[in-house]
Amino acid sequence: MDALDTPGEILRWHIDAGVDECIGESPVNRYLTDAPKTIPATLSNIVAPPEPQKASAAATPQRIEVMAQPEVVQQACDLAQAAKTVEELRAALDAFTGCALKATATNTVFADGNPKAPVMLIGEAPGADEDRQGLPFVGASGQLLDRMLASIGLSRAENAYITNVVFWRPPGNRNPTTGEIAACLPFVERHIEIVDPQVLILLGGSSAKTILARSEGITRLRGKWFEYESAGLSRPVPTRALFHPAYLLRTPGHKRLAWRDLLEISDVINKKP
Ligand code: URA
Repeated sequence: MDALDTPGEILRWHIDAGVDECIGESPVNRYLTDAPKTIPATLSNIVAPPEPQKASAAATPQRIEVMAQPEVVQQACDLAQAAKTVEELRAALDAFTGCALKATATNTVFADGNPKAPVMLIGEAPGADEDRQGLPFVGASGQLLDRMLASIGLSRAENAYITNVVFWRPPGNRNPTTGEIAACLPFVERHIEIVDPQVLILLGGSSAKTILARSEGITRLRGKWFEYESAGLSRPVPTRALFHPAYLLRTPGHKRLAWRDLLEISDVINKKP
């Protein structure tokens, strides 16, 4: 490896290695003999940073628990199922200690928009902008999403509600692991039951595969209707998978297909009873 001589080079090296968040106030030189011997390799040693908007909670940071995956999912199911409203679900998520992503995230990214909206959208995972603001889809892909929604008369202020399959940003924007997705899924499923939308839109392959429990990629899942069913819903919800807006920014040639999908979604939303 070339020598890293300047702070800029050292910073660039860390960013290239995926280290783009600080989880401690001061650096620890673990090469010194009197440095703490235990590197926080276990999740129980990772302490979540205080949420910025709740200054009084800073004195009691939440401890992320080491639990076997079945116990994590059980805790998530118990907490999520007890929630009867979106506000209760948000509080249940705040009490949840089973997902390691919570320890490195700045904010929980729960949802944005009107929870009584007829259309619910589910994306993949928060990025850096979302993590900073605590809201889903506020970065570049969010701006494209807002324009896509506006093209068929939808907006967060009025008739659209947006969340993700994972509520915390994976460090360095890596893909969430199957364990992290499984830990969040009971909350996402309960979220759909509580909002009870007329139409569900899944943004991107990871969201579509998770919610539809399918193994095909987004290219095969988009372009057709599915029915999302769950015990807490009175009827199946018509569901579409769409190319993720971040993918469309990188692959503008596919906007044509996304536009076709949006028009079909619009037809169903505006169908007279
Ligand atoms: N991409 C997502 O899938 N969700 C967000 O909230 C932001 C970007």
